[in-house]
Amino acid sequence: FWAEIITNVKSTLFWGRNKIVMRKTTRLCSTKPIVTVNGQYPGPTLSAREGDTVLVKVVNHVKYNVTLHWHGVKQLRTCWADGPAYITQCPIQPGQSYVYNFTLTGQRGTLWYHAHILWLRATVHGAIVIKPKRHLPYPFPKPYKEVAVILGEWWKADTEAVINQAMKAGVAPNVSDAHTINGHPGQISSTCSSPQDGFKLQVKSGKTYLLRIVNAALNEDLFFKVAGHKLTVVEVDAVYTKPFTTDTVVITPGQTTNVLLTTDKTAGQYMVTASPFMDAMIIAVDNRTATATVHYEGTLAEASAITAVNVPPRNATSIATGFINSLRSLNSNNFPANVPKKIDHSLLFTIGLGINPCPSCINGTRFVAAMNNVSFILPTTAILQSHFFNKKGTFTTDFPGNPPVIFNYTGNGPTNLQTSTGTKVYRLTYNSTVQIVLQDTGIISPESHPIHLHGFNFFEVGRDVGNYDPKTSPSKFNLVDPIERNTIGVPSGGWAAIRFKADNPGVWFMHCHFEVHTTWGLKMAFLVENGNGLNESLPPPPGDLPKC
Ligand code: C2O
Repeated sequence: FWAEIITNVKSTLFWGRNKIVMRKTTRLCSTKPIVTVNGQYPGPTLSAREGDTVLVKVVNHVKYNVTLHWHGVKQLRTCWADGPAYITQCPIQPGQSYVYNFTLTGQRGTLWYHAHILWLRATVHGAIVIKPKRHLPYPFPKPYKEVAVILGEWWKADTEAVINQAMKAGVAPNVSDAHTINGHPGQISSTCSSPQDGFKLQVKSGKTYLLRIVNAALNEDLFFKVAGHKLTVVEVDAVYTKPFTTDTVVITPGQTTNVLLTTDKTAGQYMVTASPFMDAMIIAVDNRTATATVHYEGTLAEASAITAVNVPPRNATSIATGFINSLRSLNSNNFPANVPKKIDHSLLFTIGLGINPCPSCINGTRFVAAMNNVSFILPTTAILQSHFFNKKGTFTTDFPGNPPVIFNYTGNGPTNLQTSTGTKVYRLTYNSTVQIVLQDTGIISPESHPIHLHGFNFFEVGRDVGNYDPKTSPSKFNLVDPIERNTIGVPSGGWAAIRFKADNPGVWFMHCHFEVHTTWGLKMAFLVENGNGLNESLPPPPGDLPKC
């Protein structure tokens, strides 16, 4: 589907025609129709090389409006292909199609794609594998085999119904009924009458496998483990890292992590687990653990017991912090970490939840989520088109660069901080350097937030618990080899500082990758343009760009 390969002079074009179709799928002994790419859940893997131009025709055969987003692909000067609904494009309506056209520049590793509208990404997602350019090696030992390992969440109920009911009532949506590994909950389903096998990875002894782990879950950070085996992290978010070895991988929704698994046993079966990490104890969470198996060739499935994983408790913050603090960019001659040193835009965004009045809701209130007190409202037409064609009235450019009220963010919040709503963007000058401190607030409860920026990778130069202090915190920044990525887990009751160069013109979404928080408004957008505006720096939109 993805790869009828046509070669031209410089690059390879992948032409995929991909249908968004409904497919009846059974998990946890119950069947429901789900939205899929080409009938597959998870969707097919898009395989390419660095430098390839990718053309994907997406044909919509379902009753929902859809878009696809290429999560982590930088989309240099191809903002039209980014995919978030009502930000860079109007959705592809039922019966219509759109060709996403972009080039994979300066990235290699694992990324992923997903629907970027409603909660459709629950089932519309898959891996993007970007190999290095031909004849270029990995900066780590060549793996014997490579495997995509996609972590997800499954609801027995229709996910659109789950969120719609919750929004109407003003309450939190039901948590998922299971986590999944490559689409399967694994052992948990033995509790119902027709157990499904979990994902099984067949391995040979004495080899190295590259696991390309994607967290496609909607609302939960996850721990990932393989019983009896250590994992060596070599890459995150399609950027090489200094290799380090760990028992446990911590991964937020939106992030990808490549690890080497060495099969140093001679035989046996070893459990693989994906279990929740969430230290905000008042937030409801799906506590179930998804399981899969690493199965050594020659081991009789019935004859040998499966070696179990010692699953971390869901609030094992120290394991998570230990993992995150070990992540470093490779920062070699070939892959330098070019951290911006001088900063043009220095921003502080508070992120957190609040409660606003809602006369029609059960309790008369509903949850909102905001950055700098602005809960973002999606417009009814796309911001990028409106701006490019100079149509007024879709959005305003007054997104605040700093919180409206300074307070003790992780202590007691002010009681009068009503969350405002709006479709506000923040303007960045093309090629300027940007620092954003993302500060979690404890207004309802401190909670971690996986914040994702479209259109750029950023460096995570600092993080800590408590309040960010502009006088003392920067002295501890790592400006040498900080991790470079597109999604950052802001610590619960703490802050993280990121830096990037705004070298990509367009409109770029930034939001919490917990889907429920995005729905509640934890999102904003940057507008990056050169002195003469966007029309000077972007090619015109493709002719088949959907209309609202
Ligand atoms: Cu992975 Cu805006 O999303």
